[in-house]
Amino acid sequence: MIDITSSGAERIAWAARSMPVLRKISERLSTEGSLAGLRVGISLVLEPKTANLVLALRDAGAEVVVHCGASSTDQNVVEALRGMGFRVFADSSASDAEDVQLAREFLETGLDILVDDGASVTRLAHREYPELVAKMIGAAEETTSGVRPLKVMHEEGALRLPVIAVNDSAAKYLFDNIYGTGQSCVLAFLDITNLQLAGRHVVVVGYGWVGMGVARFAAALGARVIVSEIDPIRALRAMHDGYEVMAFREAAPRAEVVFSATGLADAVTEEHVEALPDGAFLCTAGGGAFEMPMEYLYGLGRSRSVRPAVDAYTTRGGRTVHVISDGDCLNCADAEGNPIEVMDLSLSLQALAVERLAHEAADWEPGVYDLPVDIENEVARIRLEAAGGSLEPLTDRQREAARAW
Ligand SMILES: NC(=O)c1ccc[n+]([C@@H]2O[C@H](COP(=O)([O-])OP(=O)(O)OC[C@H]3O[C@@H](n4cnc5c(N)ncnc54)[C@H](O)[C@@H]3O)[C@@H](O)[C@H]2O)c1
Repeated sequence: MIDITSSGAERIAWAARSMPVLRKISERLSTEGSLAGLRVGISLVLEPKTANLVLALRDAGAEVVVHCGASSTDQNVVEALRGMGFRVFADSSASDAEDVQLAREFLETGLDILVDDGASVTRLAHREYPELVAKMIGAAEETTSGVRPLKVMHEEGALRLPVIAVNDSAAKYLFDNIYGTGQSCVLAFLDITNLQLAGRHVVVVGYGWVGMGVARFAAALGARVIVSEIDPIRALRAMHDGYEVMAFREAAPRAEVVFSATGLADAVTEEHVEALPDGAFLCTAGGGAFEMPMEYLYGLGRSRSVRPAVDAYTTRGGRTVHVISDGDCLNCADAEGNPIEVMDLSLSLQALAVERLAHEAADWEPGVYDLPVDIENEVARIRLEAAGGSLEPLTDRQREAARAW
C-alpha cells in the first residue's frame, strides 16, 4: 500500500467527509447502542474508509478488532487506529507466514461477528479454530472471490456459520465492483506508470462486474478494449457494449495492457505471457496474484524493478513484460483502493449487515444469506438523497396497477 505523507488520522477524517451514508447509519446505531457487548472483527482492506467503519461500529457499542494482510495494509492507518486504542493485527511489511500468524491472533481474540474479504479468515477459522467458530454469531463477506468458496463450503456441509453475502447485494456489486474498481484500477495503472491508455490495446480478462468497470474506464480514456470471456452471455454483453471479444490466446499478441478480473486462478497463463508484445503490462484487478502465472514469472530469473510497483521480466522469447504490484490487485496494493463514495455504500452495507447479524442471526442455520432488500434500499436512498437526488413516490393507483393481472 502506498505511504501517503499526511497522517493516518488526517486521511481517516478526509474520507469521513465524503461518507454521508455511514455517518447517518452510525448516528442511529450509536444512539441505540445496537452492538453493545459484542466483539466484531474487521478483516477488510485496511485504509482510511475501512477505519471509518471501525469507528462507526465502536460508536455503536462494539469492541472492534482489526486485521488485514500485508499487501492491503496502509501502515499509516494501522498506527492511527492503534493510537485510538484499537487492537490491530496487521503489518504492511509482514511476510506470508507472519500474515497467517496475525490472522490467528486476530481470531484468538474470540469474535462474535466477523467481516471478511475473500473469506480467507473465515476459512482459516473453520480449519484451525472450530471451537471458536461454534461460539460465533455469524459473518459478512465483502467480495465475489469470498462468496464463491463459502457457497462451496455450504454445499459440502463444511460451513458452520451464517454468512451474509454483502457482495451479492445490488447496492454493492453494481457500484463498488463496476464503478469503484473500474475507476481505481485504471487510474492506479496510469498513476503507477505515468502513461496514457489512449490508442493502446487493453485486454480485459473476465467481463463480470469488475471487468465491465475496467473496460468502461479504459475505453473512456481512449484505450482499444478487447474482452476475453469464458461465458457466452457475458461475452455477448461485452460485444453489445462495443468491445472486440476474442479468446485471450488470440488477443495476447496485441495485448499492450492486460487487466485480469476473473477472481479465479490461472486466468493468465505462461502461454499467454509468451505471446504478449514487447513491453506489455500485466495487472490484476480481480481476486489477487493467483490470477497471474507468478511462479513461471519468478522462474524467468531476476526481475528488474523499473519503477515503484513495476517489475520487468524477460520472457523465454526475449521480450520484456512488466508486472504491476507483483501481481496483487493494483488499486489496493499501490493506490488508495476504491473511491470514497463507493466504499461509503459498501461499508454502510457492512455496518447494517453486522447489526442484522447481531440481532437476528443467533437463530439462523449455517449458510450463505442474501443481504435483506430493506438494507440495500435504505443505503441507496440515503446516498441518493445525500447527492441531492430524490425518488418518485408511488401513488395508490400505480400500486394497484402494478398488482393487476
Ligand atoms: N480490486 C478490487 O478492489 C475488487 C473489488 C471488487 C471485486 N474484486 C474481485 O474481482 C474479481 C471479479 O469480481 P466480479 O464481481 O467481477 O466477479 P464476476 O464473477 O462477476 O466476474 C468474473 C468473470 O470472469 C469470467 N472468467 C472466469 N475465468 C475466466 C477466464 N479464465 N478467462 C476469461 N474470463 C473468465 C467469468 O465468466 C465472469 O464473467 C473477484 O475476485 C472479486 O473478489 C476486486
